[in-house]
Amino acid sequence: MINVRTKDIKVAVQKKGRLRQATMQYLASKGLEFDPESPLLITNCNKTDISAVSLRDDDIPQYVGAGVADFGIVGENVFYEVPSSSRIVKKLGFAKCFLALAIKNDSEIDDVRALEGKRIVTSYPNLLTSYLNKLGVSAKIIYVRGSAEAAPALGLADAICDLVQTGKTLEENNLKILTKVMDSEAVLIESPVLKSFERNPFYDENN
Ligand code: PRP
Ligand code: ZN
Repeated sequence: MINVRTKDIKVAVQKKGRLRQATMQYLASKGLEFDPESPLLITNCNKTDISAVSLRDDDIPQYVGAGVADFGIVGENVFYEVPSSSRIVKKLGFAKCFLALAIKNDSEIDDVRALEGKRIVTSYPNLLTSYLNKLGVSAKIIYVRGSAEAAPALGLADAICDLVQTGKTLEENNLKILTKVMDSEAVLIESPVLKSFERNPFYDENN
């Protein structure tokens, strides 16, 4: 049983996934060491009055926006995909990747405009819609929570829009990039609900 005092800082982090380890390293660099193996969803940092709250990454902006957590570390892609009143404090320089539209290696599609009327599977429908809208392209967007790269081979999609880091997942699924949609990296976000903390490790200059 842990006791979280309301004046304490709570920072929302990814429960599992690619950002998790790098996030824990970043927090450790600020002197905030947590037990990475802890099964607890709310873990007190052993040296401070700061707690890490482990959440699904797409829930983090909403928790922070509502002030339930004071800070969060999340991919820019998630921050811009999920509506919330949280705001970006700074980019953190790790977990760099990009959101891309991709098609089968043997696809005849050779331009984004050729996606007009096509089916695109993605976990980022809002980012994709605004990207296509700017180009005046109207496509059928199909939402999935993960494994978007499987969709073309299954006959579910003509294209996908998903994150690319090393490019390995695209390659393994016989897909190639049609175009980049946006760059992304980890960002520190904060709540609009102002609280005064005795100590705030996230606002120092040298980071
Ligand atoms: C992420 C992302 C891509 C892949 C990109 O998926 O959605 O599929 O990683 O990385 P790569 O370019 O290095 O291969 P993840 O493994 O997190 O699974 P998910 O799609 O089920 O969320
Ligand atoms: Zn994926």
